Amino acid sequence: MNKSFSQACENNKEPILQVIKTIFLESTTVWEIGSGTGQHACHFAHHLPHLNWQPTDRKENLKGIDCWVEESGLSNLKPSLALNVLDKKWPCQSIDALFTANTLHIMSWHEVACFFSGLNAYLTKNAQVCIYGPFKYKGQYTSESNKQFDHWLKTRDPNSRIRDFEEIEKLATTANLKLKNDFSMPANNRLLVFQKD
Ligand SMILES: C[S@@+](CC[C@H](N)C(=O)[O-])C[C@H]1O[C@@H](n2cnc3c(N)ncnc32)[C@H](O)[C@@H]1O
Repeated sequence: MNKSFSQACENNKEPILQVIKTIFLESTTVWEIGSGTGQHACHFAHHLPHLNWQPTDRKENLKGIDCWVEESGLSNLKPSLALNVLDKKWPCQSIDALFTANTLHIMSWHEVACFFSGLNAYLTKNAQVCIYGPFKYKGQYTSESNKQFDHWLKTRDPNSRIRDFEEIEKLATTANLKLKNDFSMPANNRLLVFQKD
């Protein structure tokens, strides 16, 4: 099987690394939801050797992710695990750090709600959560390109859409997560940082 490749991941992996390296300073294992190609997992595990990195995704993406994992030869990068946020039981006992990129606008709102209830169930006290992607604020797009992207998402799947920051923060609060930071990132993206109470 060939590795999948995303040019967007190549473009955003370094700016994301510069932020998450300041957030996951004292974390042990980062669970990544929706690892996609596996490029982010490789880059972050390589540059953050004090962490174990656990990529996960829906079953159909695991083989592709593991091509990157095996090729990297990194001992702190774990083979990927199947994790659909809809699963009643996630393949972990507890989580002290979580990363996800470009997933909440792909998932349905029900899946987004399940993502946060999973966080509430598995995150340990003071766990760090980093969520990267585009968001709307007070109902407004942050750019014309995000507006066009949202239109494309809804045409492709009516359940997908760019999420409202305020709605995500509300859901996070119900999962006992407090917003700690909201970083502006290149290409009109954001990196939201939450901490479990
Ligand atoms: C646009 S891709 C982003 C991939 C990668 N994180 C990135 O930034 O390039 C969305 C990812 O979310 C995953 N995903 C969608 N629904 C999911 C669900 N219910 N549970 C877990 N992952 C899901 C997809 O399989 C896919 O890997």
